[in-house]
Amino acid sequence: MRIAIGCDHAGVELKRLLISSVLSAHNVIDVGIDCMGLVDYPDVAKQVADKVITLDADRGILICGTGIGMAMAAGRFSGVRAATCNDIYSAEMSRRHNDANILCLGARVVGVGVAEGIARMWLSTPFDGGRHKNRVSKIEQNLE
Ligand code: RB5
Repeated sequence: MRIAIGCDHAGVELKRLLISSVLSAHNVIDVGIDCMGLVDYPDVAKQVADKVITLDADRGILICGTGIGMAMAAGRFSGVRAATCNDIYSAEMSRRHNDANILCLGARVVGVGVAEGIARMWLSTPFDGGRHKNRVSKIEQNLE
């Protein structure tokens, strides 16, 4: 799977760890940041959202302190379904019911082991479709 990944200063370490563990078998497009300097999360969210919208990536992962700012910022782009998942059940349901295409993680909320479990669940879980298809379409229709 082609995964675009990005983080702000709060998520640098977790991004590195995920790339070398859960994402090692995937085609990773890392948009940064890679240093500890401060960055505004909406700028990084836009870069990953662009990759997903243009189909340069199949899915995206965004990491900030809570996962909240990244989800708010990425969710403003048409075609993006960004979900903050700081637990494994939410990660599963964001795929099964919401067809989330960007996972947002809170590096200050979850430990590394839980973050890896969330990412593994999110990457391996398919969309259930069926009755959820129409509901997901309505999210996009609401933007018009
Ligand atoms: C940065 O300090 C922090 O505000 C950011 O990482 C994120 O948690 C925002 O939602």
